[in-house]
Amino acid sequence: MAKLIPVDCFDLVIFGGTGDLAMRKLLPALYHREGDGQITGDSRIIAASRGQLERDAYLDRVRVALEKNLASGEFEEAQWETFAARIHYVQADASAHDEWQALVDLLAGHEDRIRVAYLATAPSLFGAFASGLRHNGLITKQSRIVLEKPLGRDHDSASEINNVIGSCFPENQIYRIDHYLGKETVQNLLALRFGNSLFEPLWRRGAIDHVQITVAEHLGVGGRVEFYDRIGTLRDMVQNHMLQLLCLVAMEAPSSLHHDAVRDEKMKVLRALKTIGADEVRSNTVRAQYTSGAIDGETVPGYIDELGGAESSTETFVALKVEIENWRWSGVPFYLRSGKRLPAKHSEIVVQFQEVPHSIFPEQEYNVRANQLTIRLQPDEGVKLSVMAKEPGPGGFDLRPVSLDLSFEETFGIRYPDAYERLLMEVLRGNPALFMRRDEVEAAWRWIDDIVAGWESTRQKVETYVSGSWGPSASSLLLDRDGRTWQPEG
Ligand code: BG6
Repeated sequence: MAKLIPVDCFDLVIFGGTGDLAMRKLLPALYHREGDGQITGDSRIIAASRGQLERDAYLDRVRVALEKNLASGEFEEAQWETFAARIHYVQADASAHDEWQALVDLLAGHEDRIRVAYLATAPSLFGAFASGLRHNGLITKQSRIVLEKPLGRDHDSASEINNVIGSCFPENQIYRIDHYLGKETVQNLLALRFGNSLFEPLWRRGAIDHVQITVAEHLGVGGRVEFYDRIGTLRDMVQNHMLQLLCLVAMEAPSSLHHDAVRDEKMKVLRALKTIGADEVRSNTVRAQYTSGAIDGETVPGYIDELGGAESSTETFVALKVEIENWRWSGVPFYLRSGKRLPAKHSEIVVQFQEVPHSIFPEQEYNVRANQLTIRLQPDEGVKLSVMAKEPGPGGFDLRPVSLDLSFEETFGIRYPDAYERLLMEVLRGNPALFMRRDEVEAAWRWIDDIVAGWESTRQKVETYVSGSWGPSASSLLLDRDGRTWQPEG
């Protein structure tokens, strides 16, 4: 287990403190860090929300949320006592800046310590909260503001939010979260690529045939249907998580892990993405919506049923063929796919190497398969390299693919920390490397906006797929046309 370095005393204000993100992710993450002794002194967690609530009533809610969201056996009475003592609750409405007195009083006299404002709220309120902090004189040299995604719904709205936040906080105090960057396996991608000399000579056109990135979820949109209907999978998953994964696979080696070194390299990839505009959307993109079906033997409703029968062309599945216009990747397609209500929660990156140029196993001609490197993000995080091996036995020369399979959990034998545990500690330490810089977010939006405009101008059809399948047949066709197949097949 990596050494745990305690963080200096802090005040962490969570706006949206009664919300789903706070209860499901942030507070359990902080509870774990408390358990590992990383939270020191009289650091405080201050939940802020619109409603009037007594501290004890808020603590009751937090306790229930922890009992529900921690793994069995992780909730411990003694640890809860210490953790609960850090938690405060204040009322703070985004539209009533003059009524933040309770927060002002609580923070008074603690100007020297690290002060984090975590906006776990709708992005439409980001500007109002940032201005509220400024209006009440709560921004200090040690302040950091954390913004949850989605940051806007297109380039212009993101840029507007960035302008307001930027008028209150300098860029180095702004932390834009993409929680995929906090996932252990995503960081392991950096370790794999830049901590081993093995892959680098092969990490390019000439050796790699193509790359696939799949982020599949078995859950549907559930209670978020109204929000989701305004967003769709392209904006919800591709603009951020999937493009970040693509950048980490495709970027050049940064000169160090310094935040700007890493982010500069990611930016170069975003700039090199080939535009998918009106002329290309039909051939390079698939959008689709789930209908009712069955997952794990359970019948689930379709998207339109969840919307109450309203008409909608919002996609819950998207597949894309992406090209990167630079020397390393020219001619190597990156296929991305993400969807809800697919057969399983399953996210992985598959790097498919080229076939051997000439097979010396003539009778095995069709069995010599190209090597694949699979980086499993979830579940069962790990790395698998498939290689051809000879089947044991005295007769013939039968080959079959075998896997060098590394499961991180088995190898390291520890609980895998949630992405938010890592990200919260990085904010407190003042290290923005795992967060998105303004130019990255805006460049990603520009590229996404072209696809959305292409869909609109060509009225591209929204396909359907049965819940529990791997998406519409158009998604398989996207690869079929190039003589390739999705892994897992779909
Ligand atoms: C969020 C999306 O950013 O990521 C959700 O808004 C999605 O729609 C979630 O379900 C997936 O995250 P994870 O960590 O469960 O893969």
